Amino acid sequence: MRRLRRTPALRRLVAETRLSVDDLIAPLFVREGIDEPRPIASLPGQVQHTRESLREEVAELAALGVPAVVLFGLPANKDAEGSEAWNPDGIVQVALRDLSEDMGDDLVLISDLCLDEYTDHGHCGVLTTDGRVDNDATVERYGLAAVAQAEAGADIVAPSGMMDGQVRAIRTALDGSGQTDVAVLAYAAKYASALYGPFREAVDVEIAGGGDRKGYQQDPRNAREALEEIRLDLEEGADLVMVKPALAYLDVIARARAEVDAPLAAYHVSGEYAMVKAAAEKGWIDGDAVLAEHVTAIRRAGADMILTYAAREIAPHL
Ligand code: PBG
Repeated sequence: MRRLRRTPALRRLVAETRLSVDDLIAPLFVREGIDEPRPIASLPGQVQHTRESLREEVAELAALGVPAVVLFGLPANKDAEGSEAWNPDGIVQVALRDLSEDMGDDLVLISDLCLDEYTDHGHCGVLTTDGRVDNDATVERYGLAAVAQAEAGADIVAPSGMMDGQVRAIRTALDGSGQTDVAVLAYAAKYASALYGPFREAVDVEIAGGGDRKGYQQDPRNAREALEEIRLDLEEGADLVMVKPALAYLDVIARARAEVDAPLAAYHVSGEYAMVKAAAEKGWIDGDAVLAEHVTAIRRAGADMILTYAAREIAPHL
């Protein structure tokens, strides 16, 4: 076996997995009402952007060849319903308008579609009087948010709330308002993971009463259930599907790849990135090499595209 490992050129020739800048999607945060970008302590290298700094960052990512970004918004005001999520002048909507004006069709604009950044209780949906997340009332609001995002210029909306029937509700709302060209990237198999910790700091979300998302996100013990989620989302009209997080769920990615021919995304989440950065800061690992290895492994498992906070640092090396 070693004959083909002898030189970098030989290794390049026989490489089974090819990571390209085309495979990367950069997650970005935009915050309403700030004048300067704010660093996110738990995600070194990432910031909460102003509208202006977001435009600059996206232009630089596009110049590096990154084909897509996914936007998360931090509104100035939250309420029980999360109504800023569908306000035409809400932060993500105005940012989408800025970016579609700057980029036209040269970059794919994806917007995360959920209510947790917008609700004062931090859940991904609206609550019943006894404090549970109300599935059907929530997907109705997802429909409103999808239309607002589409009208503001999103090419793809990405529902991440794990409500049953969310893809169908969103597809119906989009089609009903003439947004038939806007695609849906379903966070189809999204686990209730402790690896989202740094993200919650990034978006200033705390779940009221020390709650969690185990009543709607998947149990990490289940893999077959992920395939069921993916099949349902495709039936409901998803154009692309996602597994999230990535590294602890490579088996799920591989199984999804084997079963499904739709484009498959994986989300290399905040905790996965932060762990590498923290160990690298201590000098315990070579952070750049580990990030490259991780992203390559996610691709090798079968993901077509990877949402990763490392997009910007990896892109110039591809
Ligand atoms: C929900 C959402 C979350 C992430 C993406 N979309 C947080 C959650 O489900 O609690 C996590 C992403 C990451 O950790 O990088 N809007």
